[in-house]
Formats: sequence, structure tokens, C-alpha cells
Amino acid sequence: MERLWIRLLPFLVLLGLCEAFLVADREREERSRSEVGRLEIHLGDALRAWRPELTQRASGKGKEALEALVTNLSRSLRAGLEVRDARGRILAAHGLDRDEPAASELPESGVSRTEKGRTLVVVRQPLLTSGPARIGEVRATAEVEEAGFPWETWSFVLLIQVFGIGIVLFAVTLALRPLSVLGAWFRRLGVEGAFRVGSPPPGIAEGGRLEADLRRGLEAMRGRELAVEESFVEVALCLAREHEFHTDGETGHAQRVRRYASWLAERLRFDPEKRDELEVAALCHDLGRIPPDSGSPWGRESIREERHPEEGARYFQALQGLQGAAEIIRHHHENFDGTGYPHRLSGEEIPVGARILRIADAFDRLRAEVAGAALEAGEALEAMEEDAGRIFDPELFALFKEEVLLRESDRKRVTLESAKSED
Ligand SMILES: [Fe+2]
Ligand SMILES: [Fe+2]
Repeated sequence: MERLWIRLLPFLVLLGLCEAFLVADREREERSRSEVGRLEIHLGDALRAWRPELTQRASGKGKEALEALVTNLSRSLRAGLEVRDARGRILAAHGLDRDEPAASELPESGVSRTEKGRTLVVVRQPLLTSGPARIGEVRATAEVEEAGFPWETWSFVLLIQVFGIGIVLFAVTLALRPLSVLGAWFRRLGVEGAFRVGSPPPGIAEGGRLEADLRRGLEAMRGRELAVEESFVEVALCLAREHEFHTDGETGHAQRVRRYASWLAERLRFDPEKRDELEVAALCHDLGRIPPDSGSPWGRESIREERHPEEGARYFQALQGLQGAAEIIRHHHENFDGTGYPHRLSGEEIPVGARILRIADAFDRLRAEVAGAALEAGEALEAMEEDAGRIFDPELFALFKEEVLLRESDRKRVTLESAKSED
């Protein structure tokens, strides 16, 4: 919005100036208009030939009547009036300021400036009979008021203009505010990627109804997304169980790996969301062994061992809420020293869930009768010990070892006590 103000301001100021000048110019023109101040009627010699009685009246006993006529005419015209004969003698006059130059003393028609700094306009008009014979001339003198620039009007108009524009822009700002809030929301989504229900960006809380509608819409979307994720996980678990069931020595493997992994999750105080990710990954970690588009759905057609973590992760990464699980599955065969697959990550580059899964998976392989000789818990830990730091995260392995030994001693104690109570 600030940018809009800055862009519009020069244009608005220019508009205001133009309008103010137009208004000021019109006022100046109106103030320049002036009434005729003086009229001279010059009667020429032709009048004597055309109407001799008029000349006699003007110079003889009819003079009073002529003066009365001039007086009346002068008053009705609101201008000084004089009538002169052909020699320039005044026959009758009324309302004239003798200090002012007569039109006859001024140059021809046009604008003249007097000694007193006044501007006079002179217009000369011939008096014609129907003949047409010129019987004289009328000379009119009008003073033109010298109007200066009307600063007061100009300033007033400019002020009104600026206030008007300010009010309009303020109204536009208010009207556009909900849109800018919506824009901020979508910009945020654009930056963060997929829709997430979280705290709204600053300012969204003022968006009122729009914000509430948007929030409800996003919550509904998130609800549907969760339902899709849950259904997907259920299907994936069914597939994983079926795959185990149809694969020699695999039955129960995923469930046991989930249990071992959850011991460490508990020990590390994982939050519920992280723990769920780990358990889903543990239950489905070898789902990538099922070959896609295979005539044999339960993995009798083998898939290359190195590819199964990526294949398994691919199923999960399409859904926003399962991307954490996808990452764990993708890296559950990485070794701590960087010799694993598929990306040869090492140390803490490997997600902690994947490092846990690496230990739980290996422990169950040793405990199960895969190779025909299942190991006791202590023996399995002993066999894994030498790979701590090479295959397994040494710190996590130490914690895991503690957990296993603790639980083994508890189990033995409970077994002993129950045997005693049976005796
Ligand atoms: Fe695996
Ligand atoms: Fe496994």
C-alpha cells in the first residue's frame, strides 16, 4: 500500500495543480470584466445636412431637453456620457470624471495605460444612418481592473484537493486491507509449500470473517489429509504383514522391530508425533521389497536389495504427514561410518529414527532363526558390539544395550518368581 501512495503522489499533486490553475484562471477572467465608464457621442457635420433641426436643438433652445436626455441616458447606463459637436465642443454631459482622459484624447481603439497606472480600453463605433451616412461616432471607455494572481482561491482549491485525495486513498486502503491479509497468507503458503494448519501470520487475526473462513477451510483440508494418511498407513500395514507371511522367516519381524525401536524412543523421550513416525517406519521398513507391477505381489520376484529403502520411501513421501516416516525408511540401511546405502550418509547426517531402526532391525535378525541359529539377547548384543561406531551409532547402541539387559533381567526375575509360586 505504501508503494501505491508513492506511485500515485506525483500524479495526484500534478492533477491538483492543474485544477487549481484552471479555477484560478477563470476567477481572474471574471474579475477582469468591467463596466463601461464613459461614453462620448461625437456628432459630425453630416448630421446638420441630414437633420438640421437636431443641431439647432442641440445648440439653441432645445439644449435643456438634450441635457435632460443625456442625464437620463447616463443614469440608466451607469456611465458618464457626453455629446460633442463636429468641432469637439461639448453640447451636453453627465457623470464624467474630468480628471480622467476622455476617449477622444486616447489613441485609437485598443488598450491604453494612463499616467496613473490605470488600464483603459477604448472602443470606437461609427454612428450610421439608414442611408448609410456617417453622422458621428460613439467612443466608449472602460477601465480594466488589473487582477493579480488569486493566491487565496488557488490555495483553497489545492487544500481541498489534497484532503479529498487523502480521504479517497484512506478509503481505498481500508477496502483493500482484507485482500492484503489474504495476500500475506498465500505468500506464506507459497514460501512454506504445502498447506499446514498452524498459527496464522501477523495481521491475519484482524482479517475477521475472511480469516475464520480460511482457517475452517484449511482445517477441513487437513482433516481430509489425515484421513487419507490413516487409510494409507492401514493399507501399508496390511501389505507389510502379507509380505512377511509369504516370506520365509519374516513373520513378526516388523512388529518386533517396532517394539525394539519404541524402547529407544521412550528412552530418548520422543514426542508423540516423532514416535508415531518411527513406529510406522519400523512396521513398513521393508515394504520396498515388494516389486511394483509384479505378477507375484508378495516379493517372490526379488528386487535388488540396495533399491528397497528408496522404493519403500517412495510410497510414503507423497503424503505430507508421512514424510518423516519416508525419510526413516529411506535411510534405514545407512551405516554410521558412511559405508551403507542408498546415500552413504554418516554420523548425524542419518536421521535419528533411521539409526534406531538400524539397531532394532539387526538385533531382531540375530534373535530370529533366520540363519537357523537364533541368539540369546546377550549373545546378539555381544555380536553387535564390535559394529558399534561402524554400523551402529555407538551412543544409541549403548542405550539400547542398557534397555535390553534391563528388560531381560526383569523378564528372568518375573519368570523365576512365577515358577516359584507354581511350586
Ligand atoms: Fe531393510
Ligand atoms: Fe528388516
